[in-house]
Amino acid sequence: MEELLRVSDLKLQFRSMRGVVKALDGVDLVVHEREILGLVGESGCGKTITGLAILGLLQRPQAEITGGEIIYRGEDLLTKNDGEMQSLRGREISMVFQDPLASLNPVFQVGHQIETVVRIHKGVSKRESRETTRKALAEVGLPATDETLKRYPHQFSGGMRQRVCMAMALACGSPLLIADEPTTALDVTIQAQILNLLLRLREELGVAQVIITHNVGVAAQTCDRIAVMYAGTVVEEGPVVEVLSRPRHPYTTALYQCLPHGHTASELQTIPGSVPDLISPPSGCRFHPRCKHVLDVCPTVKPKPVQVGDRHWVSCFWATGEDGAALGGDDAAKSVDDAAQRAKVTS
Ligand SMILES: Nc1ncnc2c1ncn2[C@@H]1O[C@H](COP(=O)(O)OP(=O)(O)OP(=O)(O)O)[C@@H](O)[C@H]1O
Ligand code: SF4
Ligand SMILES: [Mg+2]
Repeated sequence: MEELLRVSDLKLQFRSMRGVVKALDGVDLVVHEREILGLVGESGCGKTITGLAILGLLQRPQAEITGGEIIYRGEDLLTKNDGEMQSLRGREISMVFQDPLASLNPVFQVGHQIETVVRIHKGVSKRESRETTRKALAEVGLPATDETLKRYPHQFSGGMRQRVCMAMALACGSPLLIADEPTTALDVTIQAQILNLLLRLREELGVAQVIITHNVGVAAQTCDRIAVMYAGTVVEEGPVVEVLSRPRHPYTTALYQCLPHGHTASELQTIPGSVPDLISPPSGCRFHPRCKHVLDVCPTVKPKPVQVGDRHWVSCFWATGEDGAALGGDDAAKSVDDAAQRAKVTS
């Protein structure tokens, strides 16, 4: 499969009243044509800002990209100006935002909103944009009627609003869709419908996707590959089945062990410690204060991604034995050999 998007060593910081937030500390990920990549991790690890950075939507001057590359179809998006990024958004890459209500304009009918976006990006007539809008609404399972086109965002349910946002993304025909927590606010039945819709978009229209989610189960059900983020870094990336059944990074392992699997509340596991403050993040490996396998090298040196399998990368000295320590991957695998099963059960 052809490579569509490659993010390499992306570093990003925010200026805030409290100080500089070192929010992304070297994000690496790859998305191929027609592929679905899951970007998973705890709240605050940097999933949304990674998506916003790809689309050039971060607010400047508070947000500053301090390093790395975002290569889309061979071109570095970080070298593009505002006008170039504007024309690329929607046409090449679309995003369905974490809060669909906030991303739709409350004072305009949804038909008008989608048609406007289509006209701007495709330069087509009013009639054509209306046709495209109807087709996109039908593709996401909404009635393509005048009644739907004339409704305002607040007149839809949460699940329908997600579909409206997906229709908007689809109507522009972009080959890459970034869906930020597409199912989080929805009940289980609607969640399943939205996930099926995302799968259909890939099968029928060939849309590659980055699905951002804190729910490993959602990633297990939907994605081909998975990138696990911790405190602004991708710590493990690989084929979803391999990463779920043989996780190498201690954080990935811990994340799966926290999944409920028919346990009572008292049996549920948590990851000791807390997510670090990114104004003064831990040195070396950012996971080291919480890691039960921490080595002497970990507090001082940041591990680099090392390939441990076919398209499977891990950033951890213990898992890869990069500093000469014993390989830890097999132990990690034993403790989570039913991870994929668990993830499916809890989605
Ligand atoms: N404008 C901003 N100014 C300062 N810090 C910010 C800003 N936007 C995001 N951050 C910080 O960047 C980090 C990553 O935020 P992000 O929204 O990407 O997290 P997330 O992984 O999407 O979390 P969630 O699962 O809760 O949506 C957080 O620590 C957040 O506080
Ligand atoms: S690099 Fe060290 S601290 Fe980080 S996850 Fe691996 S063993 Fe733990
Ligand atoms: Mg988010």
